[in-house]
Amino acid sequence: MMNTIEWDDDTETVKLIDQTLLPVAYKIVECRRVAELIDAIKRLKVRGAPALGAAGAYGVVLGCINARDTKELKAEMEQLKHARPTAINLSYGVIRALNAALAGSTLVEMKENALEEANRIAVEDVAVNKKLGDYGSALLEDGDVVLTHCNAGRLACVDWGTALGVIRSAIEKGKRIEVIACETRPLNQGSRLTCWELNQDKIPVTLITDSMSAAVMRDKKVDKVIVGADRVVKEGVINKIGTYMHAVVAKAHKIPFYVAAPRSSFDTERSYKDVEIEERSSEELLFFAGTQIAPLDVNVYNPAFDFTPFELIEAVITEMGVHKSISAKFDSVIG
Ligand code: MRU
Repeated sequence: MMNTIEWDDDTETVKLIDQTLLPVAYKIVECRRVAELIDAIKRLKVRGAPALGAAGAYGVVLGCINARDTKELKAEMEQLKHARPTAINLSYGVIRALNAALAGSTLVEMKENALEEANRIAVEDVAVNKKLGDYGSALLEDGDVVLTHCNAGRLACVDWGTALGVIRSAIEKGKRIEVIACETRPLNQGSRLTCWELNQDKIPVTLITDSMSAAVMRDKKVDKVIVGADRVVKEGVINKIGTYMHAVVAKAHKIPFYVAAPRSSFDTERSYKDVEIEERSSEELLFFAGTQIAPLDVNVYNPAFDFTPFELIEAVITEMGVHKSISAKFDSVIG
């Protein structure tokens, strides 16, 4: 199986596993122009913070191939950076590859530089996830049941995953781990993507609805909770809507709540109040798989992410280690 996102040298396209079709169909889409990639990002064909970082960087390569001049390239890259506002990785990937590109003196040279940097980001992503997974695996014991939310697995990254990477690493070390996947309404990244990729790897997984997590945690069916992050800010973590609810419930039941995130997701100068939380279309709540499930004239509120304060987080797992009491020791974590 290919990585979640790859560059194809022969066709000069960005290839993506179309995540809107899983688990029903496994299809690869090719983006030839920046506008196609922006559309794929907005529709969540490619999604998850680290995968968006790689997408942003490969988008710069597409930009260099198609732009008439540097001015046009820069304008297009502004649009790409803002295709989705919440995960910091998208702008991180664009900025890194664009800076590399701008060191070139012709568009051809710029393309080569951007491609080199984008490939570096993709390789780094997998290496970082393996390292983070290694550190995090020490937190899991043989026989643990781990609840997770959304998809912070290989589909959210170039490969391996962050939260699911920790689980994969623990299993690789011989520990038996079972996963409880919350379905993650409204777009069901948990049921569609987490369950699919864990099934592929034969990792035992049980699907629950988001609203079952409190009862499942109280009934002692969960040993640990691990989620990913779209952005780690000054006071806590921004991640998929529903994360905060699981963190509150885990605290109430004394179940450790962990966040696994690469340092490229850190934006610790900023407060959560200054981060734009993406609000998505009302259609996502009014319809389910094309069927109307609410009166069309009802008011809808559909934020895609929420904020969880460090007080509720036992530790943040990065490629540098396991950081406990993170708010107190923050300076040493971000170095
Ligand atoms: O809207 P999505 O599917 O892009 O949201 C993804 C998440 O919230 C993930 O948990 C987060 O990006 C971490 S992925 C390693």
